[in-house]
Amino acid sequence: MNQKRPGFGTRIGFELAAAGSAVGLGNLWGFPYKTSANGGAAYLFVYLACILLVGAVAMLAEFTLGRRSRANAVSAYKAVSPNLGWLGLLVVVIPALIMCYYLVLGGYTVKYALGSFVGNAGKYEAFAGNVGDVILHTAVFALPAALIVIAGVRNGIEKAAKLLLPTMLLILIVISCVSLLLGEGVQEGLAFYLKPDFSKLTGSGILSAMGQAFFSLSLGCGAMIAYGSYSGQTVDLARSTVVVCLLDGLLTFLSGLAIFPALFHYAAISGASLSSLGMGGAGLMFITLPMVFEGLGLAGQIIGLLFFTMTAIAALTSIISILEVVTQFIIQRHKVARTRAVGVVALVCLALSVPVGISLGMDVNGSKVFCLFGRNLLELLDGVTNTLLMPLGALGACLAVGWRLPKAERFSGFVGAMVRIVTPVLIVLILVFGAVDMAFPATAAGRAFSADGFGMLMTAAGVAALTAIAYFLWLKNRDTGSNQDEEAANLKREEAFRAGLQRGWQRPE
Ligand code: PFF
Repeated sequence: MNQKRPGFGTRIGFELAAAGSAVGLGNLWGFPYKTSANGGAAYLFVYLACILLVGAVAMLAEFTLGRRSRANAVSAYKAVSPNLGWLGLLVVVIPALIMCYYLVLGGYTVKYALGSFVGNAGKYEAFAGNVGDVILHTAVFALPAALIVIAGVRNGIEKAAKLLLPTMLLILIVISCVSLLLGEGVQEGLAFYLKPDFSKLTGSGILSAMGQAFFSLSLGCGAMIAYGSYSGQTVDLARSTVVVCLLDGLLTFLSGLAIFPALFHYAAISGASLSSLGMGGAGLMFITLPMVFEGLGLAGQIIGLLFFTMTAIAALTSIISILEVVTQFIIQRHKVARTRAVGVVALVCLALSVPVGISLGMDVNGSKVFCLFGRNLLELLDGVTNTLLMPLGALGACLAVGWRLPKAERFSGFVGAMVRIVTPVLIVLILVFGAVDMAFPATAAGRAFSADGFGMLMTAAGVAALTAIAYFLWLKNRDTGSNQDEEAANLKREEAFRAGLQRGWQRPE
């Protein structure tokens, strides 16, 4: 097999890398707090249904787009129709936006893993407010991701996934077992997580579960197009889709199993009320869990170390895929070497993550510098990408594959109907309700217009519009490259290197 060809060497490598992209902070941080905010088990069921019905179909569509073109997302959409290429550019811009805040959160996980024995409890505000510390940890998190992507798809991403995903799964199983054996409170925690009470699930809860499923499966942001483009020609994409979705669903399920019994146990032994533990808030991971771990003594500290190490690994395998989407496009469009492309993308996104880190700290201190539309930059970017742009990207993939591929290549039967009609309709619902929820959020007195929410909506529309303009002005009629270009450049570089060596050998004569 040609070692220089950018692509996964094995099917299992491809599936583990895609699962590594999917499993991340969305599963370990987002899912538990959203589940606790939306009534527990009912949310879990809707979420798993979304993964299997809507998510799997969109993933298959993205894999298909990538593999048939063997190219970056822009070229992949252009290969369907030159007028659709702007969707490709959109799904390259979205991960760049996600990277700016995901890097900061990754930095937090590194800080918490390193601080497990020093004590993390009660330190959130001090850490978040210390800009230098946040930037340092963000950079520490970004470095291995950059090195892995520089090493290439087969030697970097695939090898890392083969090592890290099983490690993550193992740690999560160990933590779940320990959590289930804690005793007092565990039953209540399990009941909360596993006994559905659908009366507690609101429309916003269902929407949140759908959005969460998209984010968790890395859909609508080019990752699965990029990885699909590197998959072997003989890989059964439908099968791989099922494997990736099952792995993602399993790890999500386990993360709840690890967290809820421990949380309820801590509440039972400490007498703290669940609401005081911040169950339904984003602080669950960085504020509440360290308290829970440390409340359990030395064993808890060890569990804390394992938990945050696993979370950092999960975030790493996800950020790798985010970085690869943008890198692949830069390499192929600008015909530059991988190292240079990664260097530029990582440095720019690292620089952009600085204001995000500052804004989180400012939020903690009550100052609103670097806040926009009443939100810190993380909430802003997360809302714009997660609620609006990612569903848009996934919708584009389903419609392109369902309706615009040559007839012979289209899916037929059940999958065909899902790709063409059912999933797009569901995604449109997610989009419409998400937009309404943003501009007219629910308040105690009913829904009311929010200028801030509307501002976010306009930001998302602005990003999509600017991307489309940029595409039609600069990319539509230009070569945007393919995986073959990277292969050709690699071969050329190798030949030049060999020729250089030969000249070197000849010189002494
Ligand atoms: N799926 C990742 C998570 O659940 O944390 C997040 C993510 C990865 C989003 C890759 C987008 C992406 F391209």
